[in-house]
Amino acid sequence: MFFGPEFLDLLRDKVVLSDVVARRVKLTRKGRESLGLCPFHKEKTPSFTVNDEKGFYHCFGCGAHGDVIRFLTDCEKIPFTEAVEMLAQMAGVPLPKPDKKEMARQAHQTSLAEIMEFACQYFQMQLRTPAGQKVCDYLKNRGLTGQTAKNFRLGYAPSGNGLLHHLKSKGCDLHQCQKLGLLAFNSTRQLWHDYFYDRVMFPIFDRRKRVIGFSGRMLEKGEPKYLNSPETDLFHKGEQLFGLPFAIDTIRRKNEAIVVEGNMDVISLHQHGWTQVVAPLGTAFTEKQLQILWHMCDEPVMCFDGDSAGQHAMIRALNRALPLLVPGKSLKFAVLPQGMDPDDMMRQKSDSTWKNIIQNAQSFSEVLWSDLLATHDYSTPEKHAKFEKDALEKVSKIQNVEVRRLYEREMHERLRGLLYKKSGRGKGMKISAPQVDDFLLASLYAYPQELSIFSESLGNLKHFSGLRETALFNGWLDAVLTGQELPMPETEKKLMHQIEVIRSSKKPVVVVQEVERFISDLQLQQLRTEFALKQAEYLKTESPEIKVQIDSLRQEIENFLSEHDV
Ligand code: CTP
Ligand code: MN
Repeated sequence: MFFGPEFLDLLRDKVVLSDVVARRVKLTRKGRESLGLCPFHKEKTPSFTVNDEKGFYHCFGCGAHGDVIRFLTDCEKIPFTEAVEMLAQMAGVPLPKPDKKEMARQAHQTSLAEIMEFACQYFQMQLRTPAGQKVCDYLKNRGLTGQTAKNFRLGYAPSGNGLLHHLKSKGCDLHQCQKLGLLAFNSTRQLWHDYFYDRVMFPIFDRRKRVIGFSGRMLEKGEPKYLNSPETDLFHKGEQLFGLPFAIDTIRRKNEAIVVEGNMDVISLHQHGWTQVVAPLGTAFTEKQLQILWHMCDEPVMCFDGDSAGQHAMIRALNRALPLLVPGKSLKFAVLPQGMDPDDMMRQKSDSTWKNIIQNAQSFSEVLWSDLLATHDYSTPEKHAKFEKDALEKVSKIQNVEVRRLYEREMHERLRGLLYKKSGRGKGMKISAPQVDDFLLASLYAYPQELSIFSESLGNLKHFSGLRETALFNGWLDAVLTGQELPMPETEKKLMHQIEVIRSSKKPVVVVQEVERFISDLQLQQLRTEFALKQAEYLKTESPEIKVQIDSLRQEIENFLSEHDV
């Protein structure tokens, strides 16, 4: 009996998981989950949880995990069909009538999967032939253990037509093998031959670990480096993720998925214990792939190269996901050091470097905003208006109303921050530097006691570069820090005059306010200068470390503006 996915989903929706579990396990409700003693291993304190909202049970003791159907097959030890029939009865749903077409399709899929399995076994066997030795060496050289090669069922497609003979001996239909991208037919010479020659073979599995395709890598340098199975009845590239069946459990358990670029990255990371890693199959990340991951976790982390190609890919992924954002579901973005993929990282740097990169992944909204900032100017009202228009247009692409509204609000706030930045209070003080410095020094000398609160921030700013100004400032600083009386700079006629003017015309509180404002302007100015310098440096080096510094400076500036303004 065949049950289509829609029918199974209907059952999952109709039957409450905890009701089914409760027949076997005594459950107590705890918030959104129920808790009980695990039926799959012996335990005294309950670590078996049931989440009806998600439709999954999970045992923190033994790792048992699954949906309602899995619970029945594993707990009652009954076959799949029987479990489904049982559920249908509980739900009061009639069993679907056998559909001839669907059954034929199933049978066809099964026979295709069988052929792929034969091919996979053949490639695996070739590792143990003399010709396969160089592939074993290659894999070893790349840091993979025999166990890893076995888990991922890596193999070797030698030169010649070995696979052709193997598939023939298994009685496979050659035309079907051709459709599966395993064999090819040369019509001029009327000859069948193998599709993959002299390549390391990475099988691609579906969720249930059935082989649905292959990715073959050249051993030496050459083009194409990777040759993938074509689109077939089994294999749809944009709907699969390399490594998924090995990662599902961890992704669910940790509520974390990491998306990297390459197959080798996935394998290498898994070997190092990062079993929540998957990769798209050489294509750009598709909507379908995103939805698959969103079913299992909330915020997959996408890893990108630190170079400009990686940055572009990041923005493409962002734009693709933007319309699809829904409450609770998003993406994060991690940037790798330039010229290194995760596989290199694992081998050359420590695990903690990689961990850091993942932990420092940027949020969706941060990346969205940085990209807008990087591509827009806001130095005139017209340019600022264009910036605003583009920014709002961008977030209007979000289909979900709640998420869109909050993004709109955030955009408005960020845009307002820019406005302050531009109209900056510093604008009013367009006087040349020495004059400004004298104003500051005169203020300090006029009310040394009251302004002593600024000694630390002024000391940190290292603002004065002229010898005269530095000497005057240091004199003031010494006096206020040691509590001694401040000697007046009698020889500085102009400064003495300014001090007099201030003392006679402004109360200390006013001067304190003025100096406070002056200092925050200076701090902002310094941050901006540093920001500009780092940006220039990044343009030259494209170093991801600089990028990180830039991002944190940007954040600092924004924080600064929101704290000091209004
Ligand atoms: N890819 C592909 N076809 C190519 C090149 C790449 O399908 N001609 C896909 C593969 O899935 C590959 C991924 O894109 O894993 C990333 O490509 P790349 O970074 O070039 O390869 P790596 O994974 O780094 O491969 P390796 O480390 O083996 O050199
Ligand atoms: Mn690589």
